[in-house]
Amino acid sequence: MRRVLVTGGCGFIGSNFIHLLLAEEPDSAVINLDLLTYAGNPRNLEEIADSPRYRFVHGDIRDPVQAEELVGDADWIVNFAAETHVDRSTKESAGDFIRTNVFGTYVLLDAVRGTNSRARFLQVGTDEVYGDIPLGVYADESALPRPTSPYAASKAGGDEQALSFYRTFGTDVMVSRCTNNYGPYQYPEKVVPLFVTNAMEDEPLPLYDGGTQVRDWLFVEDHCRALLLLLHEGRSGEVYNVGANQQPEVTNAEVTRLILRALGKPESLIRPVEGLRPGHDQRYAVDCQKIRALGWEPTVDLEVGLERTIRWYQEKRDWWEPIKSGEYREYYRRQYGSGEAG
Ligand code: DAU
Repeated sequence: MRRVLVTGGCGFIGSNFIHLLLAEEPDSAVINLDLLTYAGNPRNLEEIADSPRYRFVHGDIRDPVQAEELVGDADWIVNFAAETHVDRSTKESAGDFIRTNVFGTYVLLDAVRGTNSRARFLQVGTDEVYGDIPLGVYADESALPRPTSPYAASKAGGDEQALSFYRTFGTDVMVSRCTNNYGPYQYPEKVVPLFVTNAMEDEPLPLYDGGTQVRDWLFVEDHCRALLLLLHEGRSGEVYNVGANQQPEVTNAEVTRLILRALGKPESLIRPVEGLRPGHDQRYAVDCQKIRALGWEPTVDLEVGLERTIRWYQEKRDWWEPIKSGEYREYYRRQYGSGEAG
């Protein structure tokens, strides 16, 4: 049995990864270490919670004792645990971003080095580390990190910690850098589930800065398949970009209109807002030839993926309605200046 330690497995991408791993790799068992901060939700895994191949551990990647105990007999370690929302890193203190995304990654790596030098460590990263990319340019893995937000800088710090362990100690480490994900179980602070659920409730969609920005939307399952492939086939010490490479590229305004059309809602729900995201990057775009050479490619079209995602949020009101009525309401008021959270 292959033992896989997943950190942050109650979050959006982590829980999608655990579902895929358990479904597709019958010889794998998962330990999920999660602190259950605001975006971690055990309900994401309720269907597999009783599986003999799954164990949940409530804890913190920054705790070296717990880290050592758990990495000790893992074959693979996949680090999803992170603070992930750009707006929270600019509006509030970014201290937790540094403590989790940089220091937490270091603690895990150090535990691997100290207790289990044969483990494979995958650091799940983001294309945001490359910063704003000019039109026509695609950042490949050799591009220097030039993160804009405190969030992106903290993820770049985690990546560099991981790569330093490969260079210094020969730890079997890889870093993936993925573009924007969307799909089931995404916390409704991120733009796709925020706009889907607000539109379902006829609440305004706060579209930042004219909606001209370009993101490369990838359906979460395609991302998780890329991670599985890397764990099997990726080369130690390497960075791999993962993205949909949509052609033509789509702006935030276009994604917003696709959502509204799919839901049969009017464009008058769009509320243009300025200045809520300081340092708002205009465009992200990555060159994905390296992972494509391993045999991976995206399989879900944006329109199809959005339809699947919208259907999920329509069927799972009991998942997101309690979220939107809790801590989220206070966050929404701070971020958007209104108590209305859809
Ligand atoms: O590129 C990968 C990154 O994608 C991940 O590393 C991050 O963890 C993840 O949050 C995501 O970052 P973004 O900042 O691109 O995602 P977000 O959903 O916050 O915003 C996407 C775009 O939509 C961005 O241009 C800002 C805009 N936006 C966002 C929100 C929340 C709006 O127009 N209105 C909003 O209310």
